[in-house]
Amino acid sequence: MGVGPIRLAERLDEVGFSEIVVVRNKVMEMRAQGKTVHAFHGGEPFFDTPDAVKYGMVRALVENRTKYAASSGIAPLREALALKLKRKNGIDAQAENVIMTTGGAHALYVAFQAVLDPGDDILLFSPYWTPIRDMVTMAQARPLLVPTASARRKGITATLEEFSTQNTRAIYYNTPQNPSGVVFTRAEAEEVAAFARSRNLIVIADEAYEDLVYDGEHFSIASLAGMAQRTISTFTFSKSYAMTGWRVGYAVAAEPLMAGLRKLVLYSTNGVSTPSQWAALEALHLPESQLLSRREEHRKRRDLLVNGLNEIGLECELPAGAFYAFPSVKKINKDSRKAAAALLEKAHVSTVPGLAFGGQGEGHVRFGFSVATEAIEAGLEAVRKFVK
Ligand SMILES: Cc1ncc(COP(=O)(O)O)c(C=O)c1O
Repeated sequence: MGVGPIRLAERLDEVGFSEIVVVRNKVMEMRAQGKTVHAFHGGEPFFDTPDAVKYGMVRALVENRTKYAASSGIAPLREALALKLKRKNGIDAQAENVIMTTGGAHALYVAFQAVLDPGDDILLFSPYWTPIRDMVTMAQARPLLVPTASARRKGITATLEEFSTQNTRAIYYNTPQNPSGVVFTRAEAEEVAAFARSRNLIVIADEAYEDLVYDGEHFSIASLAGMAQRTISTFTFSKSYAMTGWRVGYAVAAEPLMAGLRKLVLYSTNGVSTPSQWAALEALHLPESQLLSRREEHRKRRDLLVNGLNEIGLECELPAGAFYAFPSVKKINKDSRKAAAALLEKAHVSTVPGLAFGGQGEGHVRFGFSVATEAIEAGLEAVRKFVK
């Protein structure tokens, strides 16, 4: 019997492990040593899951709605989401165009697996949310990084043309963007859509932060003419309803893309936890005013943090959406990993190095501002003392 080293599947060789997790572990270690850490590395809402959602879970449990559901999701939730998609996103979806996933992350995972073949290329606006590159690599495809800032300056179509190859099969389109806070305009969405149609590309839209837009408006690319059949739109309950730990998201697509998503959900998770889905349905019944007031609370935090960073000399653009500030840290160190390490070790302020979000993020760090306003004030004070 041959004895040799245990080896993993080769397709995992190039797949990295999130740098955000490395920072999180370091913060936990510092806290265990009794140190106070001003934590800005995270990406979780500052508020609690709404009570209506929690009671929805309790009711589902008490009423024994705890058995296998259809792997695509429970019918009332998919029907309610189809209505929401029509009303709010302008996407002409029926319940059969909606599939429940284990958070937005799983929706993206199944989307990439459904459309990418080994050797395919996919255009990613960069800086991008860290896991995207690894998910693409796991599908044995190649990410083509499109610099968002220069694309917006020089023109989206020309830039997509410049970075595209013969093997380009899809575009990952995230708005509002993590980590830059960029919110693409309707005109920009139209350019991306026209490019996708002209090259017969699939668009994977990531709308995780649709409810957190401070300047401008959220616009769903799948609502444009001819786009519903070539777009997989992904959403999550995590950010809008502070449900990060519940793991409830969804993808929206037409056939034949949906057939691929169904197979992938069936054989990866066999669906989302049944009581979590009943609880998520309660979130959809909450008044829209709650989402709007949360957005305003986030806006206050954004303004406080960004004004403070600029005063300290860490130049920062005002993010139009999501809940991250992405200042330049050249004043500390132009190497973002060194700057983030210095902020953590010397000022006890945790951030994520910009390089973790792609080469276009170098020279910056990401601060998550969905934290208490007092925590922002204390964190700014610690940065101020360190930088001066
Ligand atoms: C851009 C973006 N997309 C999707 C997600 C997915 O979140 P979840 O898997 O919690 O739904 C996140 C979470 O941080 C994100 O930042």
